[in-house]
Amino acid sequence: MSYQVPFIDPRSHYAKLKPEIDRAIIDCLTNGDLVNRHQLKDFEQHLAEFVGVKYAVGVNSGYHALLFALLGAGVGPGHEVITVAHTFVATVSAIVHCGAQPVLIDVAPDFNMDVDLIERAITPKTKALLPVHLNGRVCEMDRILALADKHGLAVIEDAAQALGATFDGKCAGSQGRAGCFSFYPFKVLGGFGDGGAITTNDAALARMATLLRYNGEDRATGEYHYHGQTALLDNVQAAVLDVKLRHLPDWIAHRRRIAAAYHRGLSGITQLRIPQFDETRRKDIFQNYVIRTRVREQLRAYLKEQGIETLVHWQKPMWEHKGLGLAAPDVPETLSICREVVSLPMSAETTEAQVDLVVAALRTFFSMQP
Ligand SMILES: Cc1ncc(COP(=O)(O)O)c(C=O)c1O
Repeated sequence: MSYQVPFIDPRSHYAKLKPEIDRAIIDCLTNGDLVNRHQLKDFEQHLAEFVGVKYAVGVNSGYHALLFALLGAGVGPGHEVITVAHTFVATVSAIVHCGAQPVLIDVAPDFNMDVDLIERAITPKTKALLPVHLNGRVCEMDRILALADKHGLAVIEDAAQALGATFDGKCAGSQGRAGCFSFYPFKVLGGFGDGGAITTNDAALARMATLLRYNGEDRATGEYHYHGQTALLDNVQAAVLDVKLRHLPDWIAHRRRIAAAYHRGLSGITQLRIPQFDETRRKDIFQNYVIRTRVREQLRAYLKEQGIETLVHWQKPMWEHKGLGLAAPDVPETLSICREVVSLPMSAETTEAQVDLVVAALRTFFSMQP
């Protein structure tokens, strides 16, 4: 089905950037720059500068960024890692694939880790905290870092959805032991396939991730230091991401304008909760603009009829997928989020005219509700 207001619009995204992107790809192909060439190193350097850290290590997904960051922080069998119940499954799978036990705690109404719940989840086995900066909003990093310090824990930031978001002026992915980013095509900075990166100031962690992504091999000496994986960020993707990174500040500004337009248009609807979080210490980048309503299914069906595409992240709690073997945690906020959330169209291509259409449709829908 083609939507009047699509959730995202990858074709016009590419059309706007075509000359720059095509040049970057053709340069790689013409020069045979396919694996681990200067385009990857350039992108890593620019990403590290953007985030405000010493090192960035490109890998082939956000999942691998999480896996290698956790391994680099020494997480392994017998350890517990505290993260949130409301996140993408990859956050939890990375912990499981280190041989550690994920401990899922609830989120606050802003969808991020409820810091008040951390301390009671800590046990002698806890090795790390894994906050997730969901929807492009940074967690309360000052309190999380203070707790980690107090208990001697590593902090690995899942910043897959938050490149460019700040807390007290510091970027997501710059404050923990490591930050983990995803360049999945529909992220704020998305490639034309999977990609990810680890950001860190820790030279040893950066080196370990650099070896792990390349089958454990130190390319300078040929020595294999670990049983690693084939998980390098593709060089052509890095060239594309480097082009796109230059546009990211403009795209973030645009997303914030679109969020403000939604906010103006949707304020005051009693059956709707919109993201109106205090931004005195934060700058959100709105990877997703997420609203909450008890009549979600009816609303989505109505918006679809009006040609407006929406998504739900995520409908079924992770532990209800039996194959994952996770115990059900006590997380009331996450459960109501699963029932209530809808993400509205939001991308660098979303226009204010499209926001007007979405707002008008939402207002009509709620005016018809009892
Ligand atoms: C919060 C979060 N963590 C981790 C990931 C995993 O990233 P990737 O899909 O690049 O492996 C994602 C991707 O959607 C995500 O949203």
